[in-house]
Amino acid sequence: MHYGVAYYPEQWSEETWSRDAALMAQAGLTVVRLAEFAWTRLEPRAGHFTFEWLDQVIDCLAEHQLKIVLGTPTAGPPHWLVTAHPDMLFVTAEGRHMSPQSRRFICLKNNHFRAASERIVTALAQRYGRHPAVIGWQIDNEFGCHNTVRCYCTQCQLGFREWLQVRYGSLDHLNKAWGTVFWSQEYNEWEQIAPPQPTATYHNPGHVLDFYRYSAATVCDYQQMQITILRDYTHNQFICHNFMAGFDQLDHSQMSQPLDMVTWDNYIDEGMDWSDVSRFHDMIRGLKHQPFWIMESPPAQVNWTRYNPALRHGEARLRSWHAIAHGADGLFYFHWRAFRSGAEQLHSAILPHDGLPGRIYDETAALGQELKQVQPLLTGTSIRAKVAILTDIASHWSLQHQPHNEALSDPSLYVQPWYRALLQRNMAVEFCQPHEDLKAYQLVIAPLLHVLTNQTAQNLKHYVNQGGTLILGPRTGWRETSNTMTSLPLPGLLADLAGVRVTEWASLPPEQVRYVHATSAGGSGSYEAKLWYEMLELHSATALARYAGGDEHNAVAIAHNNYGQGSVTYVGVLGDILIDAIIAETLNVLQMDGILSTPDGVEASMREGPAGKFLFLLNHTAHEQRVTLPAPYYDILTNEWLTTETQLAPFAIRIAQIR
Ligand code: GAL
Repeated sequence: MHYGVAYYPEQWSEETWSRDAALMAQAGLTVVRLAEFAWTRLEPRAGHFTFEWLDQVIDCLAEHQLKIVLGTPTAGPPHWLVTAHPDMLFVTAEGRHMSPQSRRFICLKNNHFRAASERIVTALAQRYGRHPAVIGWQIDNEFGCHNTVRCYCTQCQLGFREWLQVRYGSLDHLNKAWGTVFWSQEYNEWEQIAPPQPTATYHNPGHVLDFYRYSAATVCDYQQMQITILRDYTHNQFICHNFMAGFDQLDHSQMSQPLDMVTWDNYIDEGMDWSDVSRFHDMIRGLKHQPFWIMESPPAQVNWTRYNPALRHGEARLRSWHAIAHGADGLFYFHWRAFRSGAEQLHSAILPHDGLPGRIYDETAALGQELKQVQPLLTGTSIRAKVAILTDIASHWSLQHQPHNEALSDPSLYVQPWYRALLQRNMAVEFCQPHEDLKAYQLVIAPLLHVLTNQTAQNLKHYVNQGGTLILGPRTGWRETSNTMTSLPLPGLLADLAGVRVTEWASLPPEQVRYVHATSAGGSGSYEAKLWYEMLELHSATALARYAGGDEHNAVAIAHNNYGQGSVTYVGVLGDILIDAIIAETLNVLQMDGILSTPDGVEASMREGPAGKFLFLLNHTAHEQRVTLPAPYYDILTNEWLTTETQLAPFAIRIAQIR
């Protein structure tokens, strides 16, 4: 368990450093993240490095046994660099050059920016790559923050063309793949191709998806440049990046592969609740199927929402345990000492502007104590899930561009209902990519595999053939990789696996519903179908639910097909209650039970490892809750026995050892 904080010593006088270090150590903090916005203090002029202050800060922290994660400072490029090469400014789709007066305003494709990045990263890696106090590196800071993935500058125009030339080889192939014959868009010179900037009306979906791919690949390539340098000069230090789980312009899966560890910044946006955060934790863990770290989370209020409410007492602590309960092994707060200048003066920190430790410091220290206490038991434990949910970024981008129903561009509407149905039963979930080996999972859910590759189709068939249970959501298998519609009967490459053909499909505005009558799954019952519905023709499958009433009366909505040793349920509709019923029935058939039954707002999860099994009970609500346990359990946090009827205080966390 690593417990850390982001610290910006470059903003404070030398005298504060040792006082801060002592207070950090006293609070039980073990790691400090430094320097990710300190470029001008590290290289005040091109090629002129001033590392002495950072040496001093690191020594000072190390004297208090604090370890260091160094951020490469490339998210905050200096003015001297932009003044010398103004062509590095990020250009928006509307053609607006970003002003260099904040951060992240550059294009990651730009050669001058890349050369300057290489220089500073190399210099840092040479100096600290073997420093005993430095345990790891964070590359840059939140790639994609402030919508900075898709750049439309001149260099990106050229870069996009080159990327397309490699992908398609010839214009002929590209024209065919994108289907440019539509609206007479056939290209006869590469120079005619540009990123999809505003035009009279809609763009070609193939063009758009490839631009999204190119843009994400550019960030990946930029990250790889830094990784390669760090690998050359560092020894025994990990390399990570702090993702934001919701930044969907990036290909998180591709970006995670070359990293040693995935970390993410846990901020709750307006409209999100704890169940969204549970999904984000699981999604991030699924990127490498390894423990992850929280690289930032606010100790109290943030400064960037409309109202920035304070966290309730105990809420920051609960959020930290929430991450651990989903597989985190490291927790950092953002940040140590409230900023006196700059854009984030009103963001909370562990110390307020006057630097005097108060309630937030005390809560931080109390958590430090708890982490220290349970660390020996939790070390090496992890989440073991038997259910997987498949997500696919190309499908998401395709839907983002052409959702047909705007709700379907938002995973919180097409993934979250499946996830929530499992979460409410306290069933551990692992997020996977569609091409991964799925044999470890008893149940696999693919909510919306819209862009389907042959590889994925084969993988899913293999999984089911070997005895797996698969649920496919609507709009599966529509698009080929080039984002053109398949000419196969829907669900395309999976039609024989699902044993159905989708004959008609329709979108529903949010205020309209259709009714689906279950003929066997979940017993009988009538459910609302929302946002989307499809009519299925049965081939080898049997009907599980049919529409009741309206034009589609009696048409099949949900079908079940046996395939090899396993089976597939094709669900042609959306609707939270219906999805919940499907999950209930599927788990019942598979004889799979969640960890424990808990009231609304209380979550249970399990970490398992060498020291046994540990049940986490989290009360996400501001009121008392009661949980019934199968037996009295020993709470390793409070060192007391939990009775079978256990009360949970508001925002309480209990960790029971299951013997
Ligand atoms: C994060 C970012 C930090 C800080 C923080 C404020 O997204 O990485 O640098 O801006 O938000 O909440």
